[in-house]
Amino acid sequence: MEIKRIDQANRAFVDEFILRKWYTMEMVVHGERIDLGSADGWFASDGIASEKIASEKIAGEDGEIVGLITYRISGDEMEILSLDSLKENRGIGSRLLGEAVEEARRVGCTRVMLITTNDNLHALRFYQKRGFDMVRIYRNAVDESRKIKPEIPLIGDNGIPIKHEIEMEMKIE
Ligand SMILES: CC(C)(COP(=O)(O)OP(=O)(O)OC[C@H]1O[C@@H](n2cnc3c(N)ncnc32)[C@H](O)[C@@H]1OP(=O)(O)O)[C@@H](O)C(=O)NCCC(=O)NCCS
Repeated sequence: MEIKRIDQANRAFVDEFILRKWYTMEMVVHGERIDLGSADGWFASDGIASEKIASEKIAGEDGEIVGLITYRISGDEMEILSLDSLKENRGIGSRLLGEAVEEARRVGCTRVMLITTNDNLHALRFYQKRGFDMVRIYRNAVDESRKIKPEIPLIGDNGIPIKHEIEMEMKIE
């Protein structure tokens, strides 16, 4: 598995992955529209699959994308916008998160934060085990986001109604 930074050369390839996965480049968090097509980040590509896929001329030289993290920086804060792993429990999510935290440290951020939702028990577990803490809950914030993006489902992971946004953070020393 290879981790690569999103750059000009592979941007279209990453965008194609985002569209295939979410059918849109736009995400809505906290009532704000965010264009993932201009976000920085890293992707993980699977070397073994890449040979097969490249030979079928589907995905090109960057192989098959098996994970993606995107972020933005404002002042001394990094916000993780998305983190997705298509092949779970192989260390892909941890590696991508590690890249982002390392970058935050490198550029002098004092905090890395992200928003997840109340239904995503897996993400709450994943981030807490990796040094993130819950710092704020925005009650019923997903109702606001749904006004902008009605396709956000009412029921999420584990059959739990999606209602609240939970802010998690890691302080960088
Ligand atoms: C949350 C998410 C990104 C985790 O990605 P992942 O690739 O499964 O993450 P990892 O493989 O690094 O870690 C998952 C578990 O696998 C374990 N693991 C890692 N490498 C492993 C290996 N080689 N063999 C066995 N287990 C392994 C890890 O220890 C970890 O367990 P833990 O959380 O109990 O410590 C992924 O589940 C996902 O995409 N979820 C849907 C989208 C989402 O919710 N994103 C986050 C909200 S912003």
